Amino acid sequence: MADSFDAIVIGGGPGGYNAAIRLGQLGLSSACIDKRGSFGGTCLNIGCIPSKALLHASERFHEAQTDFAKLGIKAKVDLDLPAMMAQKTKVVGELTKGVEFLLKKAKSEAIVGEGRITAPGKVEVKTADGKVRNLTAKHIIIATGSDVAPLPGVTLDEKQIVSSTGAIALTAVPKKLVVVGAGVIGLELGSVWKRLGSEVTVVEFLDRVTPGIDLEVSKAFQRVLTKQGFTFLLSTKVTGVEKKAGALKVTVEPAAGGDKQVLDADVLLVAIGRIPYTANLGLAEVGAAMDKRGRVITDNHYRTNVPGIYAIGDCREGPMLAHKAEDEAVAVAEIIAGKAGHVSYGIIPSVVYTSPEVAWVGKTEEELKAEGRAYKVGKFPFTANSRAKINHETEGFAKVLADAVTDEVLGAHLIGPSVSEMIGEYCVAMEFRAASEDVARTCHPHPTRSEALKQAAMGVEGWTMQA
Ligand code: FAD
Ligand code: NAI
Repeated sequence: MADSFDAIVIGGGPGGYNAAIRLGQLGLSSACIDKRGSFGGTCLNIGCIPSKALLHASERFHEAQTDFAKLGIKAKVDLDLPAMMAQKTKVVGELTKGVEFLLKKAKSEAIVGEGRITAPGKVEVKTADGKVRNLTAKHIIIATGSDVAPLPGVTLDEKQIVSSTGAIALTAVPKKLVVVGAGVIGLELGSVWKRLGSEVTVVEFLDRVTPGIDLEVSKAFQRVLTKQGFTFLLSTKVTGVEKKAGALKVTVEPAAGGDKQVLDADVLLVAIGRIPYTANLGLAEVGAAMDKRGRVITDNHYRTNVPGIYAIGDCREGPMLAHKAEDEAVAVAEIIAGKAGHVSYGIIPSVVYTSPEVAWVGKTEEELKAEGRAYKVGKFPFTANSRAKINHETEGFAKVLADAVTDEVLGAHLIGPSVSEMIGEYCVAMEFRAASEDVARTCHPHPTRSEALKQAAMGVEGWTMQA
């Protein structure tokens, strides 16, 4: 085993493992270190993959219970929660093994252990068997990801007071689930347990759900979730939680101060964001600069202020998303190999995998107004889309924002069926700096939900074909 590499990657998540793979493809040797014991990072082990496995399974369960009848299918379904969890665990295991295989194929040494930078070009690894290895490399890539943001005064036990990690592994359906934070995790995992039978109350500090997304979409999203039975306490904060006789008493009060209210809960899910994870990494010792939020500061080539040390993914600025980490991984590997790595930060899509799904890319109307940029809007409801009608999934709409003068697509905001699979069309359009008319005049297959994207683009110039 060599102890000297072209690059050492600390962290084996979507940032780390993709960087190691791309380095291998470009002919550079690497080691990829992760202390978790299985590769794939937060995303594969406790994030994207297990949460989407449960969203998919719980959606099918709910559909069989409530929607099959609309199609003329009579079904009596029962929940087998251990089996639902087991299929999730199986998928996670297969995908994490797949990452190990890809690292091997890229000739990157996958090391299970905790890495610490001792000097530029030097990394000490405490391996799982208690040994210490001292590795050297010209380049070190920090891809150590993020961790759960704590709620002051609330201690997680991951059984009853849980973060997303506990919420994807509950052994029984909570009768009452209180969620702190109406962000992506709160609404996705709240949806899982709602569909499986929980009463879900979401406590959100701000005055809307999924703050930061296009306001019209946020309002429609809250409306549809409320119709599904979610209770929202907006502009409200949790001030304490007490365990009493096996149950929880959650104290909340208006964010601006006021009368307290106590909520009963069987499980409390804390989902108020994530923070960069750089503990015990030796960054302060080597003098790597961090910002006020604990993120590693880099330039636009992912270089920190210490020569030869780079950072990518959740531990640096930008949205904490797997595909953003993955694109930065490819870019940093290419930059290290002397190529022109690049990420288009204005065109990183986001998705909330609820039902209906929410997906967006580019600017919101609020952002364009704040910039004073003149824009046009095209909109199309899924009630007027034949495929959505056939499938009884007519909730939501597609909205396109285009520059009032040049017609360049500036943003797309979708709420509706399978929009996670459709937003990529607008990412490609924006990457090519397409005009909304380009999308409007592109032939789309019929009958598909994707026709709503074309119709919304037609709406920018007012020729949507809608009753
Ligand atoms: P991570 O995936 O966090 O990987 C970092 C790795 O580094 C970890 O495995 C950690 O063990 C390791 N590490 C840290 N320090 C050291 C050290 N000193 N030595 C060795 N190893 C170390 N994003 C999406 O795009 N789509 C989704 O659907 C989605 N769903 C999510 C659902 C949940 C519940 C959560 C929590 C997150 C979700 N995310 C999703 C976010 C996504 O998981 C992250 O953006 C992504 O994993 C970031 O990748 P990364 O490589 O930067 O870091
Ligand atoms: P988030 O940032 O999406 O939402 C957190 C919410 O909690 C916000 O609405 C915020 O206003 C609220 N909040 C903060 N402090 C609060 C308090 N004290 N009381 C009440 N509400 C409070 O964070 P979340 O949901 O924890 O997810 C973390 C990150 O993980 C996301 O930002 C995203 O990057 C990633 N993720 C992505 C997914 C996807 O792409 N589908 C799925 C899950 C996570």
